[in-house]
Amino acid sequence: MPTKRRLVMSLPLTADVNARAVSEFDVAPPPRPMSRDEVISAACEHGAEALLVGLNLRLSAEDLNRLPGGVRVIATSSVGFEHIDVAAARSRGIVVANTPDVLTDATADTHMLLLLGACRRVKEHVRNMDGGWTIRNGFAQGLGVEVTGRTMGIVGMGRIGRAVAERARGFRMPILYHNRVRLSPDLEGGAKYYGKLEDMLPHCQVLSLNLPGGQGVLMTAARFAALPEGAIFLNSARGSLVDEEALIEALASGQLGAAGLDVFQKEPGYDQRLNALPNTFLLPHIGSATIETRSAMGMRALDNIAAVLNGGVAPDEVKA
Ligand code: GLV
Repeated sequence: MPTKRRLVMSLPLTADVNARAVSEFDVAPPPRPMSRDEVISAACEHGAEALLVGLNLRLSAEDLNRLPGGVRVIATSSVGFEHIDVAAARSRGIVVANTPDVLTDATADTHMLLLLGACRRVKEHVRNMDGGWTIRNGFAQGLGVEVTGRTMGIVGMGRIGRAVAERARGFRMPILYHNRVRLSPDLEGGAKYYGKLEDMLPHCQVLSLNLPGGQGVLMTAARFAALPEGAIFLNSARGSLVDEEALIEALASGQLGAAGLDVFQKEPGYDQRLNALPNTFLLPHIGSATIETRSAMGMRALDNIAAVLNGGVAPDEVKA
Protein backbone atom coordinates (compact mmCIF):
# COMPACT_ATOMS: atom_id res chain seq x y z
CA MET A 1 0.00 0.00 0.00
CA PRO A 2 1.44 3.41 -0.90
CA THR A 3 2.27 5.57 2.11
CA LYS A 4 -0.33 8.15 2.89
CA ARG A 5 0.50 11.83 2.31
CA ARG A 6 0.85 13.97 5.42
CA LEU A 7 -1.94 16.44 6.01
CA VAL A 8 -2.70 18.83 8.88
CA MET A 9 -6.30 19.95 9.36
CA SER A 10 -6.78 23.11 11.40
CA LEU A 11 -10.37 22.25 12.29
CA PRO A 12 -12.72 19.26 12.40
CA LEU A 13 -15.07 19.09 9.40
CA THR A 14 -18.26 17.03 8.95
CA ALA A 15 -18.06 13.35 9.95
CA ASP A 16 -18.02 12.11 6.34
CA VAL A 17 -15.22 14.52 5.39
CA ASN A 18 -13.17 13.64 8.49
CA ALA A 19 -13.60 9.93 7.65
CA ARG A 20 -12.45 10.42 4.07
CA ALA A 21 -9.49 12.51 5.24
CA VAL A 22 -8.38 9.77 7.61
CA SER A 23 -8.80 7.04 5.01
CA GLU A 24 -6.86 8.88 2.28
CA PHE A 25 -4.27 10.88 4.21
CA ASP A 26 -1.99 10.62 7.20
CA VAL A 27 -4.01 13.06 9.32
CA ALA A 28 -5.73 13.34 12.69
CA PRO A 29 -8.66 15.79 12.46
CA PRO A 30 -8.45 17.89 15.64
CA PRO A 31 -11.35 17.86 18.12
CA ARG A 32 -11.65 21.68 17.96
CA PRO A 33 -10.36 24.47 15.71
CA MET A 34 -6.65 25.07 16.29
CA SER A 35 -4.94 28.43 16.62
CA ARG A 36 -2.48 29.60 14.00
CA ASP A 37 0.50 28.78 16.21
CA GLU A 38 -0.88 25.32 16.90
CA VAL A 39 -1.35 24.68 13.18
CA ILE A 40 2.17 25.83 12.34
CA SER A 41 3.66 23.67 15.12
CA ALA A 42 1.59 20.67 14.04
CA ALA A 43 2.68 21.18 10.41
CA CYS A 44 6.35 21.25 11.47
CA GLU A 45 6.07 18.22 13.77
CA HIS A 46 4.10 16.20 11.22
CA GLY A 47 6.25 17.22 8.23
CA ALA A 48 3.03 18.29 6.53
CA GLU A 49 2.71 18.26 2.74
CA ALA A 50 -0.72 19.88 2.84
CA LEU A 51 -2.86 22.02 5.12
CA LEU A 52 -6.62 22.15 5.26
CA VAL A 53 -7.70 25.35 7.01
CA GLY A 54 -10.87 27.28 7.76
CA LEU A 55 -11.94 30.85 7.16
CA ASN A 56 -10.90 32.02 10.61
CA LEU A 57 -7.27 30.96 10.27
CA ARG A 58 -5.25 33.92 9.01
CA LEU A 59 -2.00 33.03 7.27
CA SER A 60 0.22 36.04 6.55
CA ALA A 61 3.49 35.94 4.61
CA GLU A 62 5.30 35.70 7.94
CA ASP A 63 3.17 32.72 9.03
CA LEU A 64 3.72 31.00 5.69
CA ASN A 65 7.48 31.40 6.17
CA ARG A 66 7.22 29.39 9.39
CA LEU A 67 5.71 26.38 7.61
CA PRO A 68 7.92 23.42 6.74
CA GLY A 69 9.34 23.45 3.21
CA GLY A 70 7.41 20.32 2.20
CA VAL A 71 3.97 22.03 2.22
CA ARG A 72 2.73 22.07 -1.37
CA VAL A 73 -0.92 23.00 -1.00
CA ILE A 74 -3.16 24.89 1.38
CA ALA A 75 -6.85 24.26 0.86
CA THR A 76 -9.36 26.45 2.66
CA SER A 77 -12.77 24.98 3.37
CA SER A 78 -14.35 28.29 2.34
CA VAL A 79 -15.00 30.16 -0.88
CA GLY A 80 -13.35 33.27 0.59
CA PHE A 81 -9.56 33.23 0.65
CA GLU A 82 -8.70 36.72 1.85
CA HIS A 83 -7.35 35.21 5.10
CA ILE A 84 -4.40 33.73 3.20
CA ASP A 85 -1.61 35.73 1.58
CA VAL A 86 -1.93 34.02 -1.78
CA ALA A 87 0.98 35.88 -3.42
CA ALA A 88 3.32 34.94 -0.56
CA ALA A 89 2.17 31.32 -0.78
CA ARG A 90 2.78 31.26 -4.51
CA SER A 91 6.28 32.68 -4.06
CA ARG A 92 6.99 29.69 -1.80
CA GLY A 93 5.60 27.31 -4.43
CA ILE A 94 2.46 26.59 -2.38
CA VAL A 95 -0.86 26.26 -4.22
CA VAL A 96 -3.86 27.83 -2.49
CA ALA A 97 -7.31 26.42 -3.29
CA ASN A 98 -10.83 27.39 -2.18
CA THR A 99 -14.33 25.88 -2.55
CA PRO A 100 -16.36 27.79 -5.15
CA ASP A 101 -19.69 26.64 -6.62
CA VAL A 102 -20.68 24.13 -3.94
CA LEU A 103 -21.93 26.76 -1.50
CA THR A 104 -23.71 29.01 -3.98
CA ASP A 105 -27.24 27.72 -3.36
CA ALA A 106 -27.00 27.51 0.42
CA THR A 107 -25.59 31.04 0.61
CA ALA A 108 -28.24 32.43 -1.73
CA ASP A 109 -30.92 30.69 0.37
CA THR A 110 -29.53 32.33 3.51
CA HIS A 111 -29.59 35.66 1.69
CA MET A 112 -33.32 35.25 1.05
CA LEU A 113 -33.75 34.50 4.75
CA LEU A 114 -32.05 37.85 5.47
CA LEU A 115 -34.36 39.55 2.99
CA LEU A 116 -37.52 38.11 4.51
CA GLY A 117 -36.27 38.50 8.08
CA ALA A 118 -35.40 42.16 7.60
CA CYS A 119 -38.47 43.13 5.58
CA ARG A 120 -40.97 41.33 7.83
CA ARG A 121 -39.50 42.37 11.22
CA VAL A 122 -38.88 38.76 12.14
CA LYS A 123 -36.58 39.53 15.08
CA GLU A 124 -39.31 41.52 16.84
CA HIS A 125 -41.93 38.85 16.17
CA VAL A 126 -39.69 36.00 17.35
CA ARG A 127 -38.88 37.93 20.52
CA ASN A 128 -42.59 38.41 21.10
CA MET A 129 -43.20 34.67 20.71
CA ASP A 130 -40.21 33.85 22.97
CA GLY A 131 -41.82 36.08 25.59
CA GLY A 132 -45.17 34.20 25.40
CA TRP A 133 -46.86 36.48 22.78
CA THR A 134 -47.38 39.25 25.30
CA ILE A 135 -47.49 41.97 22.64
CA ARG A 136 -50.85 41.73 20.92
CA ASN A 137 -50.27 43.45 17.60
CA GLY A 138 -53.30 45.25 16.28
CA PHE A 139 -54.25 45.41 12.61
CA ALA A 140 -51.84 48.25 11.92
CA GLN A 141 -49.02 47.23 14.27
CA GLY A 142 -45.89 45.16 13.74
CA LEU A 143 -46.12 45.70 10.01
CA GLY A 144 -43.21 45.01 7.74
CA VAL A 145 -42.70 46.00 4.14
CA GLU A 146 -43.70 43.90 1.14
CA VAL A 147 -40.93 41.79 -0.37
CA THR A 148 -42.79 40.92 -3.55
CA GLY A 149 -42.18 43.47 -6.26
CA ARG A 150 -39.49 45.48 -4.41
CA THR A 151 -36.56 46.55 -6.57
CA MET A 152 -33.32 44.84 -5.60
CA GLY A 153 -29.86 46.17 -6.48
CA ILE A 154 -27.15 43.53 -6.34
CA VAL A 155 -23.51 44.49 -5.90
CA GLY A 156 -21.40 41.61 -7.20
CA MET A 157 -23.11 39.53 -9.86
CA GLY A 158 -20.91 36.44 -9.59
CA ARG A 159 -22.25 32.98 -8.88
CA ILE A 160 -23.88 33.93 -5.57
CA GLY A 161 -25.25 37.25 -6.83
CA ARG A 162 -26.84 35.49 -9.79
CA ALA A 163 -28.31 32.80 -7.53
CA VAL A 164 -29.83 35.57 -5.38
CA ALA A 165 -31.24 37.23 -8.52
CA GLU A 166 -32.76 33.91 -9.62
CA ARG A 167 -34.55 33.57 -6.28
CA ALA A 168 -35.57 37.25 -6.16
CA ARG A 169 -37.22 36.90 -9.58
CA GLY A 170 -39.53 34.36 -7.91
CA PHE A 171 -40.67 37.27 -5.73
CA ARG A 172 -41.20 39.35 -8.89
CA MET A 173 -38.46 41.74 -7.80
CA PRO A 174 -36.97 43.89 -10.60
CA ILE A 175 -33.18 43.34 -10.49
CA LEU A 176 -30.47 45.97 -10.95
CA TYR A 177 -26.80 45.15 -10.61
CA HIS A 178 -23.36 46.65 -10.35
CA ASN A 179 -20.35 44.53 -11.24
CA ARG A 180 -16.79 45.14 -12.43
CA VAL A 181 -17.79 43.86 -15.85
CA ARG A 182 -21.15 43.68 -17.55
CA LEU A 183 -22.46 40.12 -17.92
CA SER A 184 -23.62 38.53 -21.15
CA PRO A 185 -27.41 38.80 -21.71
CA ASP A 186 -28.01 35.13 -20.78
CA LEU A 187 -26.27 35.60 -17.42
CA GLU A 188 -27.91 38.99 -16.87
CA GLY A 189 -31.33 37.40 -17.14
CA GLY A 190 -32.98 40.77 -17.70
CA ALA A 191 -31.20 42.53 -14.82
CA LYS A 192 -30.28 46.16 -15.49
CA TYR A 193 -26.54 46.91 -15.41
CA TYR A 194 -25.02 49.98 -13.76
CA GLY A 195 -21.32 50.58 -14.42
CA LYS A 196 -21.21 53.04 -11.51
CA LEU A 197 -22.49 52.02 -8.09
CA GLU A 198 -23.48 55.64 -7.34
CA ASP A 199 -25.87 55.62 -10.30
CA MET A 200 -27.62 52.47 -9.07
CA LEU A 201 -28.00 53.30 -5.37
CA PRO A 202 -30.93 55.79 -5.63
CA HIS A 203 -33.01 53.08 -7.35
CA CYS A 204 -32.47 50.28 -4.82
CA GLN A 205 -35.35 49.59 -2.44
CA VAL A 206 -33.22 46.65 -1.37
CA LEU A 207 -29.43 46.71 -1.62
CA SER A 208 -27.73 43.35 -1.60
CA LEU A 209 -23.98 42.78 -1.14
CA ASN A 210 -22.78 39.61 -2.87
CA LEU A 211 -19.17 40.31 -3.70
CA PRO A 212 -15.94 38.87 -2.28
CA GLY A 213 -14.24 40.55 0.66
CA GLY A 214 -10.68 41.80 0.77
CA GLN A 215 -11.41 44.94 -1.23
CA GLY A 216 -11.85 47.53 1.50
CA VAL A 217 -14.96 49.39 2.64
CA LEU A 218 -17.62 49.69 -0.03
CA MET A 219 -20.61 50.91 1.98
CA THR A 220 -19.75 54.30 3.44
CA ALA A 221 -22.02 56.91 5.05
CA ALA A 222 -22.29 58.70 1.69
CA ARG A 223 -23.40 55.52 -0.07
CA PHE A 224 -26.01 54.69 2.59
CA ALA A 225 -27.26 58.29 2.18
CA ALA A 226 -27.56 57.76 -1.59
CA LEU A 227 -30.12 54.96 -1.10
CA PRO A 228 -33.83 55.84 -1.06
CA GLU A 229 -35.05 56.53 2.48
CA GLY A 230 -36.23 53.33 4.13
CA ALA A 231 -34.14 51.02 1.91
CA ILE A 232 -33.41 47.51 3.12
CA PHE A 233 -29.73 46.55 3.34
CA LEU A 234 -28.55 42.93 3.07
CA ASN A 235 -25.04 41.56 3.56
CA SER A 236 -24.08 37.90 3.43
CA ALA A 237 -20.70 38.66 1.83
CA ARG A 238 -18.21 40.19 4.26
CA GLY A 239 -18.46 42.60 7.20
CA SER A 240 -15.25 44.31 6.04
CA LEU A 241 -17.19 45.76 3.08
CA VAL A 242 -19.25 47.95 5.41
CA ASP A 243 -18.52 50.96 7.61
CA GLU A 244 -20.47 49.62 10.61
CA GLU A 245 -20.65 53.01 12.36
CA ALA A 246 -22.30 54.44 9.26
CA LEU A 247 -24.62 51.43 9.07
CA ILE A 248 -25.72 51.86 12.69
CA GLU A 249 -26.36 55.57 12.13
CA ALA A 250 -28.35 54.90 8.97
CA LEU A 251 -30.48 52.30 10.78
CA ALA A 252 -31.03 54.55 13.81
CA SER A 253 -32.03 57.56 11.71
CA GLY A 254 -34.44 55.60 9.51
CA GLN A 255 -32.40 56.26 6.37
CA LEU A 256 -32.30 52.47 6.25
CA GLY A 257 -35.61 50.77 6.96
CA ALA A 258 -33.90 47.57 8.09
CA ALA A 259 -30.81 45.44 7.63
CA GLY A 260 -30.35 41.70 7.31
CA LEU A 261 -26.78 40.71 8.16
CA ASP A 262 -24.97 37.38 8.23
CA VAL A 263 -21.49 38.91 8.40
CA PHE A 264 -19.82 41.49 10.64
CA GLN A 265 -16.61 43.46 10.89
CA LYS A 266 -15.29 41.55 13.89
CA GLU A 267 -16.14 37.87 13.83
CA PRO A 268 -16.82 35.84 15.81
CA GLY A 269 -18.83 38.36 17.83
CA TYR A 270 -20.28 41.64 16.64
CA ASP A 271 -21.18 45.17 17.68
CA GLN A 272 -24.11 44.72 20.09
CA ARG A 273 -25.56 48.08 19.10
CA LEU A 274 -26.73 46.30 15.94
CA ASN A 275 -28.79 43.91 18.03
CA ALA A 276 -30.18 46.71 20.20
CA LEU A 277 -31.72 48.30 17.11
CA PRO A 278 -35.21 46.91 16.41
CA ASN A 279 -34.77 47.01 12.65
CA THR A 280 -32.04 44.40 12.24
CA PHE A 281 -32.20 40.70 11.51
CA LEU A 282 -28.88 39.09 12.40
CA LEU A 283 -27.36 35.67 11.81
CA PRO A 284 -23.97 34.33 12.98
CA HIS A 285 -22.30 33.81 9.56
CA ILE A 286 -24.29 30.72 8.59
CA GLY A 287 -24.44 31.38 4.83
CA SER A 288 -23.18 27.93 3.83
CA ALA A 289 -24.20 26.10 7.01
CA THR A 290 -26.22 23.15 5.73
CA ILE A 291 -25.28 19.50 6.19
CA GLU A 292 -25.07 18.97 2.43
CA THR A 293 -23.09 22.11 1.66
CA ARG A 294 -20.57 21.86 4.49
CA SER A 295 -19.92 18.26 3.47
CA ALA A 296 -19.48 19.28 -0.18
CA MET A 297 -17.09 22.09 0.83
CA GLY A 298 -14.93 19.73 2.89
CA MET A 299 -14.89 17.15 0.10
CA ARG A 300 -13.90 19.83 -2.37
CA ALA A 301 -11.01 20.91 -0.15
CA LEU A 302 -9.82 17.27 -0.02
CA ASP A 303 -10.16 16.98 -3.82
CA ASN A 304 -7.89 19.99 -4.20
CA ILE A 305 -5.30 18.57 -1.83
CA ALA A 306 -5.37 15.14 -3.47
CA ALA A 307 -4.96 16.68 -6.94
CA VAL A 308 -1.84 18.63 -6.00
CA LEU A 309 -0.21 15.85 -3.97
CA ASN A 310 -0.83 13.44 -6.87
CA GLY A 311 1.06 15.76 -9.18
CA GLY A 312 -1.99 17.32 -10.83
CA VAL A 313 -3.62 20.73 -10.84
CA ALA A 314 -5.99 21.78 -8.06
CA PRO A 315 -9.44 22.20 -9.66
CA ASP A 316 -10.01 25.33 -7.54
CA GLU A 317 -6.56 26.86 -7.48
CA VAL A 318 -6.83 30.51 -6.50
CA LYS A 319 -5.22 32.60 -9.19
CA ALA A 320 -5.55 36.01 -7.55
C1 GLV B 1 -17.98 31.88 3.72
O1 GLV B 1 -18.06 33.00 4.09
C2 GLV B 1 -16.96 31.38 2.84
O2 GLV B 1 -16.11 32.16 2.40
O3 GLV B 1 -16.98 30.17 2.58
